[in-house]
Amino acid sequence: MKLIKQFNKRAEKFDNNTVWVNSDELFHKCTLQLNDLVPDARCVDLGGGTGYIPRKDIANGSKRRWTIVDISSSMLKNNNDNKNFTFVQEDIQSTTLPSDYFHFAIIRSVLHYTNPSKTIKEAWRILKNEGYVVICEKVFEYDDEFFKKYNKLIKLRNPFKKQTFRKGDLPKLVESCGFQLLKSHVIKEYYETTLDSFLDRSGTIPEKNKNEVVEIIELLSASSKFPLTIKDQKIKFCHAWELTYCKKDIDSKKRISPLVISIIVERQFNTETYILLQKRKKRIREPEFYNYWELPQGKVNFGESLFETAKRELKEETNLEIENYNLFKLENNQYYTESFDSEFIVTIKGIINYYAICIKVNAKGIPKPNVLDTEPTWINVKKLDTFIENEKIYPLNYPMIKKYVDAFANNT
Ligand SMILES: C[S@@+](CC[C@H](N)C(=O)[O-])C[C@H]1O[C@@H](n2cnc3c(N)ncnc32)[C@H](O)[C@@H]1O
Repeated sequence: MKLIKQFNKRAEKFDNNTVWVNSDELFHKCTLQLNDLVPDARCVDLGGGTGYIPRKDIANGSKRRWTIVDISSSMLKNNNDNKNFTFVQEDIQSTTLPSDYFHFAIIRSVLHYTNPSKTIKEAWRILKNEGYVVICEKVFEYDDEFFKKYNKLIKLRNPFKKQTFRKGDLPKLVESCGFQLLKSHVIKEYYETTLDSFLDRSGTIPEKNKNEVVEIIELLSASSKFPLTIKDQKIKFCHAWELTYCKKDIDSKKRISPLVISIIVERQFNTETYILLQKRKKRIREPEFYNYWELPQGKVNFGESLFETAKRELKEETNLEIENYNLFKLENNQYYTESFDSEFIVTIKGIINYYAICIKVNAKGIPKPNVLDTEPTWINVKKLDTFIENEKIYPLNYPMIKKYVDAFANNT
């Protein structure tokens, strides 16, 4: 296979010629979760190449038992005499490793060579329940206008790369492969190298591609918006690395998250009734609902009453101060009947099951988001029915708003 040949050729100089391999920051971010595991945890580096991460971990004094899997014998060879590791020369998309075995897996800069979904599912298979996987891949996160050129550059430099990931692709993928997404974030690293070494890479860049590679570098370099510059035969560039932290948790789909209080803030403007909606700006938990409309809401903290939670969450999210409130079920105002339910259990794609209670409040102040701009907006209740049908509404809140709208209509 040509890819194996390429890595066999790169192997000897890999650690010295690959600018990012020995970054302390990347090592630190990739191995953070190891500290949560038993001291002699079984760990696997999938597509581990020269085994930089396991070698450094062992050199730092850890007792962890590492397995390094790679298709290239030469990449593995440099460490074959090291008794601290087990080496497996296999395709990581389908290995002979035992199921439910490892506490931890790392996949760094590999998935653009493989079928990512197949590889992540294989990681899921070999991990124990409650085991962790960290995926660390370069991602494209710049203006779309550069994507085509950047992609071309990558393909010319390495025709074996099957795909370029964009920021956010991997967090979605891990969830679709059964993992629980714990966190993901992007870090940027800046590198500098000579044009010669960029064009050489142990002689693996096709000779016929080199002129075009230089042309694209010069084109990208001409724009001050793209982080790549060439000057005096030296190249400076930036890699955005997306780190995706996941857990194999076979029970997570059955669990209910802590109790959530959702808040309908009602206000009169010129004799019309309005409620407050805001946009969801969370990118790590449930990124698929980014920019959906939602109610202000949050989880009940230890020792808090429902009303204290509502007060705290509303202040935190919108800066509004609650004046009075009603549980839908217990309220005594004219809009709702005794049969109005206040409790909702909503399953979102089987990932997070929420048990939520909805509270209707009057609150004073002007809505002002505290951290990200959640675009708080007063929506006229008469238009709410059409609004929730035409706009994207966070699934937990849809049934609550729907009930509120129906109750409002029945009482006016
Ligand atoms: C860019 S290197 C990264 C090495 C290592 N993960 C690191 O961060 O230092 C990519 C590695 O993936 C390996 N690789 C690519 N496709 C593979 C596959 N299907 N199965 C196993 N290893 C693979 C290559 O042989 C190479 O060693």
